[in-house]
Amino acid sequence: MVNFFGKWNLFFLLAVCTGVLWMTYFSMGKEIDSDLFLDLDVLLKKHGYPVETHEIKTDDGYLLTIFRLPHGKNGSGVNPRPILMMHGMFGTAYNFVYTEYFNMSKAGYFADHGYDVWLGNARGTTYGRKHVKLHPKNADFWKFSYHDIGLHDLPATVDYILNVTGRNSLFYIGHSQGGTIFYVLASLRPEYQKKFAQVSLTAPAGFMAHYQMTRIKAVSRHHRTLYELALKTNNMEFPPSWLNFPGILSSLCVGTVMESFCQRAFINFNGEDSGELDMKIFPMLIHSLTTTSVMQNLHYAQNINAEKFRQWDHGKEKNLEIYGQAEPPEYPVEKIEVPVRIYYGCNDKMAAEGDQEEMCRVLKNCTTHKMGNPKWNHFDFLFSKNFEKVLFEPMIKHIDTYELS
Ligand SMILES: *[C@@H]1O[C@H](CO)[C@@H](O)[C@H](O)[C@H]1NC(C)=O
Ligand SMILES: *[C@@H]1O[C@H](CO)[C@@H](O)[C@H](O)[C@H]1NC(C)=O
Ligand SMILES: *[C@@H]1O[C@H](CO)[C@@H](O)[C@H](O)[C@H]1NC(C)=O
Ligand SMILES: *[C@@H]1O[C@H](CO)[C@@H](O)[C@H](O)[C@H]1NC(C)=O
Repeated sequence: MVNFFGKWNLFFLLAVCTGVLWMTYFSMGKEIDSDLFLDLDVLLKKHGYPVETHEIKTDDGYLLTIFRLPHGKNGSGVNPRPILMMHGMFGTAYNFVYTEYFNMSKAGYFADHGYDVWLGNARGTTYGRKHVKLHPKNADFWKFSYHDIGLHDLPATVDYILNVTGRNSLFYIGHSQGGTIFYVLASLRPEYQKKFAQVSLTAPAGFMAHYQMTRIKAVSRHHRTLYELALKTNNMEFPPSWLNFPGILSSLCVGTVMESFCQRAFINFNGEDSGELDMKIFPMLIHSLTTTSVMQNLHYAQNINAEKFRQWDHGKEKNLEIYGQAEPPEYPVEKIEVPVRIYYGCNDKMAAEGDQEEMCRVLKNCTTHKMGNPKWNHFDFLFSKNFEKVLFEPMIKHIDTYELS
């Protein structure tokens, strides 16, 4: 048993508290634009976009708040082409709104170019912390991985949008985990494929044979131990909300002497600096961080470890019982016939080039778009200051060539 109150731990705690107080003192009086702390719908409205809020219920009882921009700044009524955007892990609908601070967000851009934009939110995020019976304070609320987001949240969202718009299909953009959940749904419930007219995935997480984040790889080897620990301690949320991780990060990193250090650490987390990130929106990024389920993280860890894209590994015995085989089955992505375009960066150490090209070979109707900047990484898809030219324009030009069914 670790002694949490040993003298070194106390010393450490004291040092941290002193540090926080010191940095708070030095940051006093430094002005930070209050627009960086606006909720995403408030920011969009301030910039002239109409924003609707909808609540949907999944077939397993989660209540998700999603946002809609039915038209652009100068438009009216409802644009004819519905498009759903799904965020990555630790993200929310904010993923498509951050750069609205610079008046150039994916949500705004598509609304200004004839699309009826829907911004989805998965269970467990800031906008998905409600359930008809379960409470996020209970571990049971958090017993899900991206598998469940793909099998329940995504179809509920798609069906809701098609019902409201009276359409048979929609367009889809998914970032990172937003790609994973599409692969899960389209491969395990192929009848859903006809509801997607075309799919654009940025840095989707699927195959993991080329994953390059060495420290995460090392931690991933211990996925089973970590899972047992989470179960035993009843801590299935990560990071647990009682820790107020965004609060800690902002008191350490926003407007303090540590700020540029924190920004560097963030930029370098996923590889070299692409030179395309404008870190002015750093406070917004921290402010909007969301928690996830432990299982979501560990499901990726299992895949990183196995170098495969497959269902949850329950351990040999239980796998035999549930799947009828000792190893968990791989997602049958070869069944996916929807036209997919995968956008990836060569400096993305999580959703690596080799895995993207491999996925595109396996999918029935897929093309890739390699980002021009050789240092483009996982985060550039969320924060690049050159978005309009290098991503939005080519993406919308491609999607525009597809008709809705
Ligand atoms: C909206 O209208 C204003 C004024 O006519 C114009 O300057 C702006 O470019 C328009 N914006 C869009 C997205 O069409
Ligand atoms: C963005 O647009 C808003 C409102 O139209 C304006 O006040 C602001 O100065 C613009 N910001 C930038 C960075 O261009
Ligand atoms: C579709 O919308 C109608 C009217 O709003 C509602 O009564 C119905 O339950 C909805 N169906 C689904 C599957 O959401
Ligand atoms: C891919 O989908 C597009 C649009 O539905 C279709 O025109 C094209 O023939 C398909 N390509 C293949 C290889 O199936």
